[in-house]
Amino acid sequence: MTAGPLVDPAAIERATRLLAAGGLVAFPTETVYGLGADADDAEAVRAIFAAKGRPADHPVIVHVHDASAIGAWASGAPDAARQLAQAFWPGPLTLVLPRSPRAHDALTGGQASVGLRCPAHRWARALLAAFAALRGDPMAALAAPSANSFGRISPTTAAHVRADLGEKPQGRVDLILDGGPCPVGIESTIVDLTGAAPRLLRHGAISRGQVEATIGCAVPDAGAGAPRASGRLLSHYAPRAPLELLEPSRLPARINALRGTRLAVLAPAAALLDWPASVVLRLVAPADAATYARRLYALLHQLDESGAERILAAAPPHGELWEAVGDRLRRAAAAAEPDEDGT
Ligand code: TXA
Ligand code: MG
Repeated sequence: MTAGPLVDPAAIERATRLLAAGGLVAFPTETVYGLGADADDAEAVRAIFAAKGRPADHPVIVHVHDASAIGAWASGAPDAARQLAQAFWPGPLTLVLPRSPRAHDALTGGQASVGLRCPAHRWARALLAAFAALRGDPMAALAAPSANSFGRISPTTAAHVRADLGEKPQGRVDLILDGGPCPVGIESTIVDLTGAAPRLLRHGAISRGQVEATIGCAVPDAGAGAPRASGRLLSHYAPRAPLELLEPSRLPARINALRGTRLAVLAPAAALLDWPASVVLRLVAPADAATYARRLYALLHQLDESGAERILAAAPPHGELWEAVGDRLRRAAAAAEPDEDGT
């Protein structure tokens, strides 16, 4: 499966040349925009961290063109890795595997594991293919975290990247490729296959049930002691104004209690009735999980730009399909509180 609009070959060519020269290129994937650098170039990878303002000991995902690259970047990958790659690559799934010597410390944050993902977006695939061709190495790959400043909302359009990181000389990125809005909209599911049993490090569009059905065993959430993963910090995916997540039925009372405070509200259409003028922006929460995921970060960006002092969001429905959206909203809501690291 590939996704996204047709690529612009001239833009891809410019991007590959910049990447081969150690530059940073923001590119669309089906999940969110990534901030890419040559995965073999430790200095370029460190430049990603500097551009994002992200701590250097966080690992970054290595994006590969196809599953044949698993053997180059990981060593001793279990059967489950091949099964999952076969079932879901290219697609929104990241596998954490024991690293090979090629996966250097700047990629892994000094850990013994490496995160690998093969993206499905047409532009990402074209970029990876052209980059590998230019490097003359089919295993050449791109290190890429989401293309946002550390702790800020992930970008699902090129405009989001432009507004946050920006292009040089004023901004921090050499080139921002515009391949349209990301069709999945939230980051990949991450499965850790380095331990005795597989664990889910991050919820995404590939559900726990799909992963479990493919490898034939339970895949519980990772608990304490899990590998460092910046997406696991609670204070992530955060708008600037404090975001409060509450049951839809509690919204009217909460809005009344906050009269006099400029509010932005994200709630199902039915809950968006007659509200006081203190509500400066009301956005309709999509009714199905895939649409909600696709639009989530654009909605958070809009809420953020509304000038509201506080954001109220209705809690989404329960159930497996909603796990990833619920997880991102809870993290956005937790931003005003101390996170897992107590910072
Ligand atoms: O959908 C995605 O995964 C997007 C697109 C651009 O591919 N990328 C993304 O990257 O979300 P980032 O860096 O924002 O989040 C990657 C997550 C982080 O939480 C990171 O710590 C974790 O993956 N990760 C990467 N390598 C890891 C490893 N070796 N062990 C544990 N976690 C790892
Ligand atoms: Mg991120």
